[in-house]
Amino acid sequence: MKSKVPIYFLLFALTALFLGMFFGVTASFQYLLPEFLKDQIPFSKLRPFHVTSVISWIILCATGSIYFFLTYTEKFKLFSPLLAKLHFTLFLLTGAAIYFSFLFDYTEGREYFAFTPVLIVPILVGWLLFGVNYFKILYKNIKNWPVYYWMWGTGIVFMCYHLMEAHFWIFDFFRLNFIKDFTVQWKSTGSFTGSWNMLVYGISIYLMSKIKKNSKVASSKIAFFFYFLGLTNLMFGWAHHTYLLPTQPWIRFVAYAISMTEWIVLASIIYNWKRSVLRIEKENHPMAYRFLLSTDLWIFLNIILALLFSIPAINFFTHGTHITVAHSMGTTIGINTTILFSALFFIAHQLNPKLKTDRKWVKRGFFSFNISLLFFWISLLIAGGKRSYWMYVSKERLFSEMQDSLIPYYISFFIFGIAIFISLVIVAFPIFKAFLQKIKP
Ligand code: HEM
Repeated sequence: MKSKVPIYFLLFALTALFLGMFFGVTASFQYLLPEFLKDQIPFSKLRPFHVTSVISWIILCATGSIYFFLTYTEKFKLFSPLLAKLHFTLFLLTGAAIYFSFLFDYTEGREYFAFTPVLIVPILVGWLLFGVNYFKILYKNIKNWPVYYWMWGTGIVFMCYHLMEAHFWIFDFFRLNFIKDFTVQWKSTGSFTGSWNMLVYGISIYLMSKIKKNSKVASSKIAFFFYFLGLTNLMFGWAHHTYLLPTQPWIRFVAYAISMTEWIVLASIIYNWKRSVLRIEKENHPMAYRFLLSTDLWIFLNIILALLFSIPAINFFTHGTHITVAHSMGTTIGINTTILFSALFFIAHQLNPKLKTDRKWVKRGFFSFNISLLFFWISLLIAGGKRSYWMYVSKERLFSEMQDSLIPYYISFFIFGIAIFISLVIVAFPIFKAFLQKIKP
């Protein structure tokens, strides 16, 4: 019998997503009513709960999908089912420990890893266990690796390194020198994002090649060019996070150019794939197909935004405003989450080919998710733009007046945040059903 670990990972990921969105919606309500639950759980506490949960969603869903593709779709035997079980158990217990750490204010960590730093140890051990299973399986079974195997392998290796790097601040050698500390901190955060992107973008190429039942998309020259571009971005693309530091301007420009090119290449791969997919192939995987198309749309919208604020004169105004938040959520929801939902639908179909995912209400959930995300994103952009205008251009009004003028945008941010939440609950319903059927004793 096949291991149920991939399904456990995916259920765990969905739980992290919905908990994370619940924290996000509650935090966004505190924009409107700062006193709401302030004594019990202030914004400063809710934010790490939200950010850590939703990032865990991306990483856990990517991990579960890769385990699934290897063992269920490709039908390889796990090198060690025990290590996979241990990996899951470690992540589950660490997840609970992270919540306790936030709840009881052990938050000495840094951005994205605000929990008590010792918890990075079991996380690293989990990645090592994943790496052992992954490389042992592939080494034995596959000769000419399609690009997604390279991407997943690279993602796992770099994830181990960058998780350690994000904790170098523990050592005085880094912490006591501001520039060194800041550079390493932001470099590691940027490369951490690059590492999960390797896993997620690899999944998008895997899905395209499986839906089309044609391995060309994963072995073409453009696919490998995309891989090397992604790798360069992972290693050097962090430089745009360090605008404030006295580095050479060309380093930032090169870094930005690479990250933009990476998106453009992924968008063009999806676009060309879409043009070549046959009707029957679309009909076999309707929701997985739709989610990949929406990834393409969101890449396009995020490129426009990122191209604009990569111009240093504009970056100066947008830095630290809601425009940065729009960029982070626009990409993590619009690009990563859509690819992962495409994977979840593909997996649900593999588990139960008779499962009807193309129902009217699931389609409606999909459309309302995209429309809500668009308005959610625009609300953040306007709120960020207005605040920046007040800070740098018209300084006549009081801070409280400026804050009041943002209220309509905070309201729409909150309402469309709830709409995203509800849409994803609707969309995830058939997926949950397929997964729960599978793990039923
Ligand atoms: C798949 C779902 C989501 C993902 C992946 C996601 C991701 C993120 C990320 C990465 C950040 C950090 C932003 C930064 O530091 O620049 C963030 C912040 C935030 N998110 Fe989300 N988010 C999601 C859904 C939501 C929803 C539904 C809401 C509800 C309104 C929400 C509300 C917030 C708030 C209030 C912040 C804090 C912004 C600040 O610091 O002022 N998020 N989210």
